[in-house]
Amino acid sequence: MKTNDKLIIRALNGETLPTPPVWMMRQAGRYLPEYKATRGVAGDFLSLCYNPELATEVTQQPIRRYGFDAAILFADILLIPQALGAKLWFVTGEGPRLSTITSQADFDALGPVDNIDAVLSPIYETVGKLSRELPSETTLIGFAGAPWTVATYMIAGRGTPDQGPALALIENEPAVFDALMEKITDATIHYMSRQIEAGAEVVKIFDSWAGSLKGDLFDRYSTAPAKRITAELRARHPDVKIIGFPRGATNEGYMNYARETGVDCVAIDSSVDTQWAADNLQKITCVQGNLDQTLLVSGGEKLTSETKRIVKTLSNGPHIFNLGHGITPDADPENVTRMISAVRDE
Ligand code: CP3
Repeated sequence: MKTNDKLIIRALNGETLPTPPVWMMRQAGRYLPEYKATRGVAGDFLSLCYNPELATEVTQQPIRRYGFDAAILFADILLIPQALGAKLWFVTGEGPRLSTITSQADFDALGPVDNIDAVLSPIYETVGKLSRELPSETTLIGFAGAPWTVATYMIAGRGTPDQGPALALIENEPAVFDALMEKITDATIHYMSRQIEAGAEVVKIFDSWAGSLKGDLFDRYSTAPAKRITAELRARHPDVKIIGFPRGATNEGYMNYARETGVDCVAIDSSVDTQWAADNLQKITCVQGNLDQTLLVSGGEKLTSETKRIVKTLSNGPHIFNLGHGITPDADPENVTRMISAVRDE
């Protein structure tokens, strides 16, 4: 199938479809026994990310099991920091750890953007394999973290509840913070561009911690970098489709982000009122979302009714069905089948 005929691409081109295409954030993950088995073969999470054979396999697992309309590259937003020279490791049950950046000297110790492919080339190989091996109707989505979200991990050296260390660096060392944002933005443009050249038809910018940027900070550090990334990718690859996810933004923030960046689609988290999104955001762009991912743990009638409510509410404009955030390891794989049946009314 040609790229433009695929359901996800039609939605991203602004078409209102009778049934929305569907995929899930973190669709390849620990709720699936086959993922855990392949991860066991790889040894650890990062070895899995950098193994094109096995990363291709786990990317395809949810496509085989559920027939999602899109496959998302299996990788992580923290590979860019690693490629820039930060130390990165994962503590089981706790999450990522990185060397921290709190001073000009820490920033100066990072490597050049020109060198990131030395670490990231296996990822492009995975994208190439997927582009050759996926079913012809499946859209291939590449991704990167947004500069702010990546910066929050690089500064604190871990996930933080309120992104306090990164917000403090904005206050205390604004020049270091801005230089770091520039560097991550440049690396992200290069990284996504290489993914597109390798066969990604869509790229998604994950700004998971955009919600902690209040007032002007949101425009400056979430919207503006996404605008630059979008413009530069389009200049190099006019056909690429771009999804932006400024998770936790205010309604006004989501609207400004959509208008300013010109992304083809804005992904919304579950706290956004779906009717508000239909009446406002969907008038200017395709909307992706926004089922509460905890319903895939609890299941039942509420899962079906909420899924149908979202599909119906967003049925008068371009919509890609998805979760408000990633599926969690305690989700029941059977509930994913129920969700998809409810979306497709099967
Ligand atoms: O969506 C997909 O299926 C594609 C792969 C993907 C992963 N991470 C795999 C992963 C994507 C798109 C991401 C993005 C990502 N990574 C984000 C942005 C989206 C979001 O969730 O907000 C962030 C913030 C990260 C950083 C990250 N990676 C954290 C905080 C963690 C630990 C938390 C956890 O769930 O354990 C990871 C690890 C990670 N990334 C796993 C997976 C499947 C679990 C690792 C494992 O197998 O042990």
